[in-house]
Amino acid sequence: MKVLILPDEQAAMQRAADIVARTVTATPDAVLGLATGGTMLPLYEALAQRHREDGLSFAKTTSFNLDEYIGLAPDHPCSYHSYMQEAFFRHVDIDPARAHLPKGDAPDPQAASLEYEALIAAAGGIDLQLLGIGQNGHIGFNEPTASLGSRTRVKTLTTSTRRANQRYFASFEDTPRYAITMGVATILASRACVLLATGEAKADAVLRMVEGPLSAACPASALQLHASATVILDEAAAGAL
Ligand code: GLP
Repeated sequence: MKVLILPDEQAAMQRAADIVARTVTATPDAVLGLATGGTMLPLYEALAQRHREDGLSFAKTTSFNLDEYIGLAPDHPCSYHSYMQEAFFRHVDIDPARAHLPKGDAPDPQAASLEYEALIAAAGGIDLQLLGIGQNGHIGFNEPTASLGSRTRVKTLTTSTRRANQRYFASFEDTPRYAITMGVATILASRACVLLATGEAKADAVLRMVEGPLSAACPASALQLHASATVILDEAAAGAL
């Protein structure tokens, strides 16, 4: 695991944007694994800016997002479909037919999870997976105790995650209880991954991911097993290391 500590959030985002840009420039038809959350917003802004100003193209890129809430239609304003549309897809030249997210409104979410995993395999697997980290050490929606061998499936969200994400919904009660998420093993199968964490609130989770024991109690610690994992931090998120 390579850990890069940058002075501030902007520097961290630019470093992550450099890695994405290098990947899609070297391999225009790269398969990207994409993430949501507040941390990723400035990264998507930086990539959109490079598209506008430097011609960075995603036209041949395929993407798979990590997760989606169950019960939200794609056009629900709080769905991750909407997040991706607003934060990234509508600002770049990615082909919507190749930009995938799990189908949170599928009648059979478990079957939809298996189909998603098969779609990733059919695309040849993920070349570069972007990740954030939850305050409890989750990656995607793989909450503490998630099996390290898990593949895309339905997960129940913990109360702490629902509380952390409640700010996007009208109330705690309106915050979804379930999600479809890539599994820990799906994430580990990516050829390279970049985890971004910024701000003091992530410092403890970052400590457990980087220096803690490999344990399902901190799903992000599974990245210790990844052959090409880069963790990009600002000084605040690195504060407990
Ligand atoms: C959500 C997402 C994760 C993300 C996490 C952190 O729960 N499913 O993929 O890493 O939030 O979000 P934020 O960046 O807003 O702290």
